[in-house]
Amino acid sequence: MVYFTWSYPRESRGKGQSLNNHACVTGWGTYLPERILTNSEMEQLVDTSDAWIVEHTGISQRRVVADHETTSTMAVEAGRKALDEAGLAAEDLDLIIIATVSPDNYYPSCACQVQDSLGAKKAAAFDIGAGCSGFLYALSTASQFLATGAYRNALVVGSEAFTRTLNWEDRNTCVLFGDGAGALVLQSCQEPYGVRSFILGSDGSGGKLLYLRNLCARPGDWPADGKPRMYMDGPKVFKFAVGAMTDTARRAIEQAGLTQSDIDLFIPHQANLRIINSTIRFLRLPEDKVVVNIGRFGNTVSASIPIALCEAIQEGRVKDGDHLVLVSFGTGFTWAGLVLRWGVPAEIGKRAFSQAGAARGEA
Ligand code: UT7
Repeated sequence: MVYFTWSYPRESRGKGQSLNNHACVTGWGTYLPERILTNSEMEQLVDTSDAWIVEHTGISQRRVVADHETTSTMAVEAGRKALDEAGLAAEDLDLIIIATVSPDNYYPSCACQVQDSLGAKKAAAFDIGAGCSGFLYALSTASQFLATGAYRNALVVGSEAFTRTLNWEDRNTCVLFGDGAGALVLQSCQEPYGVRSFILGSDGSGGKLLYLRNLCARPGDWPADGKPRMYMDGPKVFKFAVGAMTDTARRAIEQAGLTQSDIDLFIPHQANLRIINSTIRFLRLPEDKVVVNIGRFGNTVSASIPIALCEAIQEGRVKDGDHLVLVSFGTGFTWAGLVLRWGVPAEIGKRAFSQAGAARGEA
């Protein structure tokens, strides 16, 4: 008789070291599908106009996945770039968290697919689904694992092939969203860089205002034609969004022991330019401190904040020691805000280099 045996790779162990560690961002990367879908193309699909979409949302175009692309393939590409930037090998990762609500499968998780594609042999891997707040939930979660000293290196990705979930006959929703991925590598450190405060919240009573049923819903909850469809009450979500973003940003800043004048860059979830503008008006933040790219990408859900952050880094808008505020809201309802202190202590530069070198077999 032949028995199938499985040899388990050696995973990272929670070391339970110091509780005073921090988690700084050492790598970043994005992946955006090549296909650009413009507002004039949307005019061919539904009864809409470029003028309406721009005036009501600020969106001019969005990226859409090609047939060969999925949430996991985009996450892998963004993750590889982030690892390269950090000077780490995939084998150095202890943890992979993917924020998504459009995974390739119900199971296995997208994070396990990414773990396998990257060859991150000792990493724990799981997904977080918190709608558009997912990336900040994931970033806060990964930071805790590093801050306790349990893990040293984590990859956090927001990735969405969200356009595959859309009803292309519904002008109320299909013009709003796009696809893409953004990734950060976090490494534990002793100096106070990385997440300085976080606010995470939820109110499930808002679930009926923005949802997409899945295969496991009660059959009676499905539409008569059997096709699950995204439902959103846009104006009600809009009202919730402005209050949640403003309040969450304020509380995250206060919890970090800072005031609004200490904030160097504000990176809001890119859902609607009018939501962003109302939020910064309430917060009294000047426009030059705000990252806005919704015009080119639409709402990429969990990927929106990491894509915006990566663009800001590439444009030289983020400097060592800067305090960044990242804030989001999403289906659930959920909301999330955090203060991130940018920079990499000298100890990390050395450690990242030696880990990548060791993984490549260098002395
Ligand atoms: O990340 C979380 C995801 N969700 C959101 O962030 C959505 C938040 N909400 C919004 O962004 C806005 O509420 C929308 C963009 C969805 C809608 O904008 P609005 O200014 O709140 O418009 P409205 O819902 O008040 O609709 C005004 C009109 C309606 O027509 P009637 O009933 O007044 O005749 C809509 O049918 O605009 C119509 N409309 C459109 N017209 C042309 C809705 N979508 C479209 C469209 N093109 N694409």
